[in-house]
Amino acid sequence: MTRTYIKELYVDPAAFSGRQVTVRGWARTVRDGKNVGFIELNDGACQKNCQIVLSRGDVAEYDGIVHCGVGAALTVSGEVVLTPEMRQPFELHAAKVEVDGASLPSYPLQKKRHSPEFLREIAHLRPRTNLFGAVFRIRSQAAFAIHKFFNERGFVYVHTPIITGSDCEGAGAMFRVTTLEPGEKDITKDFFGKRAALTVSGQLDVETFAMAFSNVYTFGPTFRAENSNTARHAAEFWMIEPEMAFCDLSGDMDVAEAMVKSVAEYVHETCAYEVDFLTERVCPELNARFEALKGGEFVRLTYTRAVEILKDAVAAGKKFEYPVEWGCDLQSEHERYLTETVYKKPVFLTDYPKGIKAFYMRLNDDGKTVAAADLLVPGIGELIGGSQREERLDVLEARMAECGLKAEDYGFYTDLRKYGGCVHSGFGLGFERLIMYLTGVANIRDVIPFPRTVGNLEF
Ligand code: 4AD
Ligand code: MG
Repeated sequence: MTRTYIKELYVDPAAFSGRQVTVRGWARTVRDGKNVGFIELNDGACQKNCQIVLSRGDVAEYDGIVHCGVGAALTVSGEVVLTPEMRQPFELHAAKVEVDGASLPSYPLQKKRHSPEFLREIAHLRPRTNLFGAVFRIRSQAAFAIHKFFNERGFVYVHTPIITGSDCEGAGAMFRVTTLEPGEKDITKDFFGKRAALTVSGQLDVETFAMAFSNVYTFGPTFRAENSNTARHAAEFWMIEPEMAFCDLSGDMDVAEAMVKSVAEYVHETCAYEVDFLTERVCPELNARFEALKGGEFVRLTYTRAVEILKDAVAAGKKFEYPVEWGCDLQSEHERYLTETVYKKPVFLTDYPKGIKAFYMRLNDDGKTVAAADLLVPGIGELIGGSQREERLDVLEARMAECGLKAEDYGFYTDLRKYGGCVHSGFGLGFERLIMYLTGVANIRDVIPFPRTVGNLEF
């Protein structure tokens, strides 16, 4: 018995007409019409189901099969019959059905639509819904597209460590890693003999490789212990961090823009059905979002200019929850106003005040702003955070002191400036935020298999 995936049947149903095939999957619906039964089978290789028709006269154990229960795992052999007049282009007329694993009546996924909140409570079963089928096939294609993008451009993929002794963002929002028992305080007795934590970013590590390979990227899990209970923050998320030697901020934005467009194009090409499904069910503007990404350049705007635009909006009557002043960190509502209302497309905001950005960003000649670029996109807000790095040793050391960082913790980082430092830039793309953007799903909890957020560590 060779297994045929349902996807293959949909590619060219006519080629299978009259042929015997075996499909395997899970029953999405089971209907018993007494002498004829109908099962919608899904095998996950594509979004669409295969309609199975079984007649009491043709299959042994008819009654057992139609009572296998929604969710049951089945192996079905039979003949492909074209049904051009029906909603689905073909059916499988079963000759033999094996119940690999029956399902109980308590199976929580019924034919009706379930709320995302309910589905989070059954995160182990939600991959079997249409919504999660679409989201996670897109997530997989997007991950591949990212590797493809960088690989085709000669970037070297670097695996930066997950456990770290340094804090990249200088934010103190790290999860500690320890083997000490509660009450044991002597850090020298700890596994590493010093404080250790889960990484918040692979940037500082990957910069060391950029100073050898020129163009590199890391793509892996990162962890933040920030207490932000929002729809766009997770405690564990994946980040893509390219780093390019001999590249300034403008080159950095070129790479970021090309990458977002290229990944979107690949996803649209390979997951057109999923994108249509999500456009219909989740986010009406999704298809248009993909179309818009094909043309049009992203906007590039300084932070200072953005603050002026926001203040003008306030003067004209626009109400924001948080005030806007030069020097303040922009809130999500401000970011979304710029990208959704003013420009209606992705916007790079550049040259932020140094006070709200990390120590490693290159100080601009004005002495007040740094060469940072965040990419804001409609529906999400911040998708990418990047910058040109400070390559001047004296300026970097002064900034570190200003930020209260101990020079001895960053010896390797300052070494890069002593031994052949050069202009270099990079950025970090939050992978889950990208998936939210490409699926229209509004909550980060619904684009991660098992989300980790404040107060939530289920599954
Ligand atoms: O802006 P961030 O903090 O930048 C960095 O970590 C830099 N070291 C990146 C670099 O230059 N190599 O984070 C980068 C991106 C954000 O733009 C956002 O998309 C995502 O990571 N991100 C989160 N995504 C989900 N949950 C969180 N708690 C996130 N925090 C940041
Ligand atoms: Mg940021």
